[in-house]
Amino acid sequence: MTGSSAEFSKAKNLFPGGVNSPVRYYEPYPRYIAKGDGSRIYDIDGNSYTDYCLAYGPLILGHAHPSMRKALSRASEIGVNFGAPSEFEIDLGTMIKKAVPAMHKMRFTSSGTEATMHAIRLARSFTGKKVIIKAEGCFHGSHDYALIKAGSGALTQGEPSSPGIPDEVAGSVAVASFNDIDSFKKVIKKKSGKIAAVIVEPVMGNAGVILPEKSFLADLRELTSDNDILLIFDEVITGFRFHYGAYHSQVGIVPDLITLGKIIGGGLPIGAFGGRDDIMNNVSPEGTTYVSGTFSGNTLSMLGGIETLRVLKESDYSKITDMTGKMCSELADIISKNEKCSVNHIGTMFQIFFKKKRVRSYSDAIGSDQKQFLRYFRFALGQGIYMPPSTFETNFVSFAHTDDDMQKFLSMTEEFFRQ
Ligand SMILES: Cc1ncc(COP(=O)(O)O)c(C=O)c1O
Repeated sequence: MTGSSAEFSKAKNLFPGGVNSPVRYYEPYPRYIAKGDGSRIYDIDGNSYTDYCLAYGPLILGHAHPSMRKALSRASEIGVNFGAPSEFEIDLGTMIKKAVPAMHKMRFTSSGTEATMHAIRLARSFTGKKVIIKAEGCFHGSHDYALIKAGSGALTQGEPSSPGIPDEVAGSVAVASFNDIDSFKKVIKKKSGKIAAVIVEPVMGNAGVILPEKSFLADLRELTSDNDILLIFDEVITGFRFHYGAYHSQVGIVPDLITLGKIIGGGLPIGAFGGRDDIMNNVSPEGTTYVSGTFSGNTLSMLGGIETLRVLKESDYSKITDMTGKMCSELADIISKNEKCSVNHIGTMFQIFFKKKRVRSYSDAIGSDQKQFLRYFRFALGQGIYMPPSTFETNFVSFAHTDDDMQKFLSMTEEFFRQ
């Protein structure tokens, strides 16, 4: 046994299931990646792939971009973390605030998970209320308050989606349905006066790609404001994904708190939460809501973010948006001939669902044929195309992708359906 298969045998003795994050596993064993360059990744078995996973979103400039090399080499000269303030935090913070004006103040963290966890704690402490409403199928990381799913039967009361999460925690998180404002109204009525915040991804990117429908986000803004509930947009995926800024500015809806991650570190570990001054001033040491982290604001991640945003500011998002749009419309043509398929797409995010009816909710997404998706995934892998190995993830396109890459994706899909 050699290559990926041999490495996976060793990995199984080191890591649960052989991996360090569950979605990375697929049968019979995941490919071990040796290096990345632009839109391509290379495995240790001698294969290369056009990468549409892009480390689950951060690598909008592609792999091993010169900006990242610059950040890494600068950090290697000056040190990666001081555990003390640095000018780099000011630089990245200023760039983010200019691009995302609703982030009047922010705090850096080391991951998106930490960002949403702290934003939730802050919302609770600021409002003095306990209950959080999330939308079923939105993912906000892997802390206890985020791993809550809708309970069986009627929506509203959450249930842990993993063992080890106390029922008391689940009891403080209610669940409603994305794109269904009435489901939020119902929960708010039922838990009247107890709700601190509503947290949603403004575009769902963890149940495949699910777009917000016409007035859903605006209705959510109105509903939360009318009921003294904070609105948190989790823009860990969508921040800087569609334009130089956050998604909410594109749709003209201002949340009270925002979480960012992924792209703002250019591939290095990062997260941030921020928003209204009067809320953020409650964070320690200015306020009493405790938030800390050994790696928060570390030099390496700050430099990764600064260099990435510097390149993005000068980049023409319309180029990759148009390229992806064109590819997705051709993809829709190809798969429309197949009775059991549909494609969702926004900007440089897309996903194929093995379900004919357009997917507009989490329940639609889970009703898609996942076995067929995995067949498609394996076929793509064999044709040199690497996608996230789950229908509940998102394909991403980077500035390193080319028209040729898009064409290859289309030909692969055409061939899959032909066979
Ligand atoms: C919308 C969203 N929020 C939060 C997270 C958690 O971020 P991280 O994996 O950096 O902890 C993710 C991760 O995929 C995400 O997609």
